[in-house]
Amino acid sequence: MQSIWSKRATLAAAFVLLAVVAAACKPGDPARSTGAYPIDIFQEMHYNQSFKAGEPPRLLPPEDSYPISGGFIRVGSKAESAGLTSPHPVNAQTLTRGALLYRQNCSMCHGLTAGGDGTVGAKFEAYIGISPPAFDSARVQDLTPGEAYSSVGAGFGFMPAFEGLLSEEDRWALIALIEAATAERSAALDAINGLDEPERTLRLLELRESSG
Ligand code: HEC
Repeated sequence: MQSIWSKRATLAAAFVLLAVVAAACKPGDPARSTGAYPIDIFQEMHYNQSFKAGEPPRLLPPEDSYPISGGFIRVGSKAESAGLTSPHPVNAQTLTRGALLYRQNCSMCHGLTAGGDGTVGAKFEAYIGISPPAFDSARVQDLTPGEAYSSVGAGFGFMPAFEGLLSEEDRWALIALIEAATAERSAALDAINGLDEPERTLRLLELRESSG
């Protein structure tokens, strides 16, 4: 039979657990989080104050001012964005840029060749029964470029939002990769999958620079 003390200990432990869970459920701190996840247990390192301490000093904006550059405009809903098309020219460089961005930001879920078979994607299937779709699936190909732009920017279901992480031009380069014919997309991905990580980073920086 349990003594009154061990009952109290159990109660106290339950209370502590509840407090920890409640603290974890707090929405992300806007200074350290993209707000992409409803429950932000591990905030992203880039947004951490200790990481910011390593950055060069910057002046604080005057009080009551608001940014007119450097921010980003939130993407509209899928319905609102359906008719959008890329304001940037699409050429071989765009596809390479899309492929490099894809490798870094999407391939762990959607797979190295965009077949919907990434290592993290497999966990999605195992735990929640939802897989990241292959890019040449009817589901993805039936999206208009604007709808895909909205889903990638704002996030979709369990997929995180990229509007705060990638520039508008980077996101349209990804849409160009989605829209490309299967053979073109595979060629662009095969070409960059052959490079090592530093080469890929350098190439992406060059492409961003050259597009102005
Ligand atoms: C953490 C895993 C993950 C990452 C990273 C990820 N996705 Fe997804 N993506 C998913 C899942 C899961 C779905 C299906 C979501 C659902 O059905 O609820 C999805 C769906 C999509 C869709 C279909 C959306 C729709 O409207 O039907 C597109 C397009 C897409 N992803 C593109 C991308 C691109 C481009 C990137 C990289 C910038 C990316 N995804 C990164 C997991 C991911």
